[in-house]
Amino acid sequence: PSETGRVLSIQSHTVQVMNTLPILVLKPHRQASYTTYSSSLRSLRPDTCAGYPTFKGQVLNGQQLWELIEGLGANDLLYYTHLLTGYIGSVSFLNTVLEVVNKLRSINPKLTYVCDPVMGDEGKLYVPPELVSVYREKVVPVASMLTPNQFEAEQLTGFRIESETDGRDACKILHAAGPPKVVITSINVNGNLLLIGSHQKEKGQSPEQFKIVIPKIPSYFTGTGDLMTALLLGWSNKYPDSLDTAAELAVSSLQAVLQRTLNDYLSAGYDPQSSSLEIRLIQSQDGIRNPDVKFKAEKY
Ligand code: ATP
Ligand code: MG
Ligand code: NA
Ligand code: MG
Repeated sequence: PSETGRVLSIQSHTVQVMNTLPILVLKPHRQASYTTYSSSLRSLRPDTCAGYPTFKGQVLNGQQLWELIEGLGANDLLYYTHLLTGYIGSVSFLNTVLEVVNKLRSINPKLTYVCDPVMGDEGKLYVPPELVSVYREKVVPVASMLTPNQFEAEQLTGFRIESETDGRDACKILHAAGPPKVVITSINVNGNLLLIGSHQKEKGQSPEQFKIVIPKIPSYFTGTGDLMTALLLGWSNKYPDSLDTAAELAVSSLQAVLQRTLNDYLSAGYDPQSSSLEIRLIQSQDGIRNPDVKFKAEKY
């Protein structure tokens, strides 16, 4: 939804350069499209986290990522306003991502690094356990915005999140480690999903915090986490000082996508509880660009 800026988006299976719209995609080896990997398969093995029973192609390693960066550099294409990272399956790749952050910040010191620390969900890690300490010690400190789910926030803080207050405290711990913006994209409280947002406007100050209550739809969707982080990046670019506004817009468009997806499956005669639902991204473009804000942030 942003109108300005230039985003480099890296996941270990895709590297994309988005000039907002149109989108230039450098996708060296994945046949499936953008929001595809997910925690939708419950018994995921590291590096097979595609949200599909099988996928083809090679997972990019750190060396190969660096080659792509060199290629972009050779064409003078290393100026970005934003870097977005998602699923990363190995320590070597994550270390190279850190080098990319340094490189991009040497070219644009104001680079916003939006990090979705994808590690697991619902009590299970789906990346090699060595990644956790690399995220914790090296990645979190350089991130501008962090978008963990409940489980990932627990991994990064070493702190169990069982309530709203725990979620807010976890955000404070994460601010102390680095990022001024933290969004825990969902915690499960009494059958609802709760998004907790936290913006520390000055180092050392207490953050501005809010929640958004999201009724849980009894279906499992593939790609919600990716879309949520992408939307938060886009709307935060438009509203850099109002994380609550950005989050309201992001949640409202994501929920519109999920409703559309649900209706689509229902009208095609599928039982939307029987398998993981592929989100209807393209069909929902208008709602992504201009969402009706139906989900309001409540400030603490
Ligand atoms: P993923 O499983 O794709 O990696 P995640 O665990 O990183 O996602 P979540 O916090 O689970 O991220 O989901 C991101 C957002 O998607 C939530 O904030 C919520 O708005 C929406 N969402 C996901 N699943 C549902 C659902 N079943 N009902 C309602 N909203 C949902
Ligand atoms: Mg989740
Ligand atoms: Na998330
Ligand atoms: Mg996720």
